[in-house]
Amino acid sequence: MTEPTNPLRLAVVGAGVIGRHHATVAVHHPDLQVVALVDAVPEAATGAADAIEAMGVDRPITTSTIEEAIEQTDIDVVAICSPSGMHVQLAEAALAAGKHVVIEKPLDTTMPRARQIAALAAAARDRGLVTSVISQHRFDPASAAVARAAHDGGFGTVTSGLASVAWYRSQGYYDSGDWRGTWALDGGGAVMNQGVHTVDLLVWALGRPVEISAQTGLLAHDRIEVEDTAVATVRFADGALGVVHCTTAAYPGLSARYAVYGTHGSAIVDDDRLAYFHIAPDTATLESAATTSNASAVAGAVDQKDQVVPPEHVVGGPAEPDHFAAGHARQYTDIVDAIRQGRDPGVTVDAALVSLATVRGLYVSATLGQPVRIDDVIDGKYDDVVPVVGGPDRGQGSADPADVVPVVGTPATATATEGAAR
Ligand SMILES: NC(=O)c1ccc[n+]([C@@H]2O[C@H](COP(=O)([O-])OP(=O)(O)OC[C@H]3O[C@@H](n4cnc5c(N)ncnc54)[C@H](O)[C@@H]3O)[C@@H](O)[C@H]2O)c1
Repeated sequence: MTEPTNPLRLAVVGAGVIGRHHATVAVHHPDLQVVALVDAVPEAATGAADAIEAMGVDRPITTSTIEEAIEQTDIDVVAICSPSGMHVQLAEAALAAGKHVVIEKPLDTTMPRARQIAALAAAARDRGLVTSVISQHRFDPASAAVARAAHDGGFGTVTSGLASVAWYRSQGYYDSGDWRGTWALDGGGAVMNQGVHTVDLLVWALGRPVEISAQTGLLAHDRIEVEDTAVATVRFADGALGVVHCTTAAYPGLSARYAVYGTHGSAIVDDDRLAYFHIAPDTATLESAATTSNASAVAGAVDQKDQVVPPEHVVGGPAEPDHFAAGHARQYTDIVDAIRQGRDPGVTVDAALVSLATVRGLYVSATLGQPVRIDDVIDGKYDDVVPVVGGPDRGQGSADPADVVPVVGTPATATATEGAAR
């Protein structure tokens, strides 16, 4: 008989909306036990601990700093659920103490800090520590099937893709937290906060992004620094072309959707479920098809989505029970396995760095009004660019270069409001 494996002891840092969610997911996960809740606001931590205790499990300790939690109890894994601009400093403290680390998305809000955590995570990996970044939708069965088909050649040559997040956030949402809608702590708006998952899924399916051209606008909200609407085009290393569209000003709030199109098949994912999926049965079908009109002219090009994933992952199927928790639970299963097997997690810091650089590249391109190479973003060429949101009085929607050159300061010393349209 094999020995039962003890659950991994989890500390959650930042007991806000998503921190409580992590704690709840962990309570229901057979391989995790919540042992500490940390929040700079003590009432947030104790309130979350009350909720955990009410679920019938041991009450976790509560502290106001990560250092106190590490000192006071045994911890295997630290989940960083603080505002985005604080992820790296907290992850650094956890790694320095020899803990495995889970970082909520996005990796952080600036490229220098993101590079810093990538270096720390690489060094920690050599010491046997796992660092993963939350991108729970990569574990949705629909998105996993699409990425597999894109990577294995099922779609043939992937020619293009589209990511569109058409959501709605009220003014009250942005007013609900001082950090929301700020460059320093939210890191951006509709793309960085809301769209980052869908951009990440497009990048995961289409491969390494090479260059991005973007425009942004602040069109429907007040008292924020960041964009509520953005569009961009992206060129990928294998030649595929992609379109990104993210907004929090699409009343009443529609879906997050992405599509992958190729020479042998295509797929559409809408709100985490398959809306369409087709892989041609064999190349002969393509060679012989009388394709004088569009895909519907290809004989036998039936929608296969029902054969690819269970009904709750198909548009129109029954709802997956507690879908939001299920996503994080799936990723935690991967993280636990990675820790126990000594392998890399499904979402590495390096992968998250590429997605973050794509978002940052979008902002740089919109600010400068020119295409931006993603490798240059990763290498630090644009670290000093202070993002500026375009707008109606900015003509083409990008900043007048006269406003942004010289591009001075850092996000910490200058804010987008200095150059924003409103
Ligand atoms: N994966 C997802 O789908 C998803 C969804 C929502 C939010 N998020 C991410 O989760 C993070 C938090 O978002 P939220 O909506 O929970 O924010 P929130 O404001 O509700 O919670 C953040 C909490 O962190 C605490 N905090 C601040 N500084 C701290 C510190 N130094 N040490 C400990 N605690 C500290 C705050 O007091 C607050 O309670 C963000 O990075 C966000 O992008 C991810």
